[in-house]
Amino acid sequence: MSVSNSDINAHDTVRVELDSRSYDIHIGHGLLHEVGPKVLEFAPGGRAIIVTDDHVNTAHGDRLRVVLEANGVSHETVCVTPGEPSKGWPVFHDVVEAILASHAERGDLVIAFGGGVIGDLAGFAASVVRRGMGFIQVPTSLLAQVDSSVGGKTGINSPHGKNLIGAFHQPTHVTIDLDVLKTLPPREFRAGYAEMVKYGLIDDEGFFAWLEANHGEVFSHGNALGRAVANSCRSKARVVAADERESGARALLNLGHTFGHALEGSVAYDGERLVHGEGVAIGMALAHRFSNRLNRCSADDCKRVEHHLQAVGLPTRIQDIPGEHPSVPALMEFIQQDKKVKRGSLTFILTRGIGSAYIQNDVSPWEVATFLETELSS
Ligand SMILES: NC(=O)c1ccc[n+]([C@@H]2O[C@H](COP(=O)([O-])OP(=O)(O)OC[C@H]3O[C@@H](n4cnc5c(N)ncnc54)[C@H](O)[C@@H]3O)[C@@H](O)[C@H]2O)c1
Ligand SMILES: [Zn+2]
Repeated sequence: MSVSNSDINAHDTVRVELDSRSYDIHIGHGLLHEVGPKVLEFAPGGRAIIVTDDHVNTAHGDRLRVVLEANGVSHETVCVTPGEPSKGWPVFHDVVEAILASHAERGDLVIAFGGGVIGDLAGFAASVVRRGMGFIQVPTSLLAQVDSSVGGKTGINSPHGKNLIGAFHQPTHVTIDLDVLKTLPPREFRAGYAEMVKYGLIDDEGFFAWLEANHGEVFSHGNALGRAVANSCRSKARVVAADERESGARALLNLGHTFGHALEGSVAYDGERLVHGEGVAIGMALAHRFSNRLNRCSADDCKRVEHHLQAVGLPTRIQDIPGEHPSVPALMEFIQQDKKVKRGSLTFILTRGIGSAYIQNDVSPWEVATFLETELSS
C-alpha cells in the first residue's frame, strides 16, 4: 500500500518530473494564500487573469482576489457559466478574447480557478494566447484536484465528441487547497471520488483496500481526505512523468473512460443526468464486467468494485442513469469516435483484477456491442 499513514502536515508536495517542464503540486489546508507569492515567482510583472465559473467565483473568488492584492498582484477575472457546455468553441472564443482584452502579456499568468471544466478550458486558452502563456492550476473540485489539474492535458469538446480539440500544456504550479472542497456539492464530491478509486483499480490494490476501509473519513473531510488526494496526485504524477504524451502507459488512466465518455455523449453532456465522474464509475464497473466476459477478471473482483462504488453512492449500471436509456448503436457511435480508436479496431483498458489494468488493442467492436446488449437487457 502506498498511502502514507502519517498525518498530513500543513502541506504535502508532489513533484511532477518533466525535465524543464517539471512542477510541484502543493496539497493542504488553507493553501489559497500561497497563490499570490506563486504568481510573483512565475510572473515577476505581477499580473494574473483568473478564469473561473460563477459557483467558484461566488464561493471563493473574493478570498483569492484579496490574496493577490495583498501581494501586489494586479488581476482581472473572466467568469463563465458553470458546467460541461462551457467546454466548447463559443465559450473558448469568449475566454481567449477576454484574456486578450485584458492586455495580457506573454509573461503574465492565467489562473485556472475551478473544476475540471475550468482547468481544461483555461489551460487550453493559455496554450494558444500569444503562442503560450504560463498558467497555475488552483483546482476546486475533488475531480480536478486528483486528476484533471495534473498532467497538462487541456482542451474542449466538439459536437463530434469529448476532448477532441486540445493541446498538451503543463501548468507551472498546482495549488490544492483542501478547504475549498467544503462548498462542493456532495454529488460532485462523489464524482471526484470515482477518479481516486480509479488509481487503486489501475495498479494499486492496496490503495483500493485502503479506500474501502477509510472512505467514511474521506467523505467527512478528515485526515484521510488529504492522504487520499496526495496519493492520487502521486499516482497520476508517476504515470505522466513516464509517458507525458500518452504513447503508452498513460492510456491506463483512461480506465472506465471509453465507456464513460460514450455515456456522457449519449446524454448530450447533460450534467443533470450524468456528471463525468459518474460516467467513469459506470465505465469502470463495465470495464471489469467486460473483462470478466473475456475471461480476464474474476466475478469476485467485479462484485468488490461494484460494492465499493455503490457504498459511496456511485452508479455502476447504464440503467442507473435517469431517463431513457441510450441505445447500443448510439453508444457504439461514440465509442468508435473516441480518440482511442485506431483504424477501426478498438483499444480498451481491460483488467486482470483489482490493481491489474492493462491496455488491450484489437478489441472487436462486435464483442463490445454484444456485451452492451447483454448489459442493457439484464
Ligand atoms: N485534463 C484532464 O486530464 C482531465 C482529467 C479528468 C477530467 N477532465 C475533465 O474535467 C471535467 C470535469 O471536471 P469537474 O467534475 O470538476 O467538473 P466542473 O468543472 O463542471 O465542476 C463541477 C461543478 O462543481 C462546481 N464547483 C467546483 N468547485 C467548487 C467548489 N469548491 N465549491 C462549489 N462548487 C464548485 C462547478 O461550478 C461545477 O458546477 C470534464 O470536462 C472532464 O473531461 C480532464
Ligand atoms: Zn476522468
